[in-house]
Amino acid sequence: MRLTPRWRKAFLVTHVAASVGWLGADAVLLVLGIAGLGGTFGTGVDPAVVYPAAELVCVALVVPLSLTAWLTGLVCALGTRWGLLRHWWVLTKFAMTTLMAVLVLFALTPGVRAAAAAAQSLSNQERGQFVVPPSVACTLLVLNVALSVYKPWGRTRRAAG
Ligand code: HEM
Repeated sequence: MRLTPRWRKAFLVTHVAASVGWLGADAVLLVLGIAGLGGTFGTGVDPAVVYPAAELVCVALVVPLSLTAWLTGLVCALGTRWGLLRHWWVLTKFAMTTLMAVLVLFALTPGVRAAAAAAQSLSNQERGQFVVPPSVACTLLVLNVALSVYKPWGRTRRAAG
């Protein structure tokens, strides 16, 4: 089923806004994760503020934006000539986004929730766990933006056949 041009644009606007918003929210999580480490960037930062703030950013922004980006991406793929399995750039984005959305729901959200509840008593190692995941997520999301704009690697065998 193909989207009409009007619907295609509406979904594309929502898709780009949600996807790039997700990147922004992950950048905020990264800043909070670094602040939580203390030292130069986190001097005077109270863990009892940092980790509940990270939980709020995660629940109020990262979760809804990631699900919206995933769902609208699916609609933009299935509702246009791009298809979901016809071009490598779409398939790669779909795989990366699905993996990231699952990690957001089942690893990041429970992890940040537990950190918010135990903010004062987190060890240095536990605090460190809130720096690497948002760094990786930001990198993958920038990669997703690049894939969307350059659209590399051509068609899959499925599209040719
Ligand atoms: C389920 C995952 C995703 C799928 C299947 C998907 C699929 C698509 C498709 C098919 C388009 C072209 C739409 C059209 O021209 O009508 C598109 C555009 C775009 N997507 Fe995604 N996407 C996904 C996730 C993401 C993510 C996570 C990001 C960025 C963080 C992203 C960023 C963009 C951008 C910037 C465009 C606009 C590119 C242009 O101007 O042509 N997408 N996406």
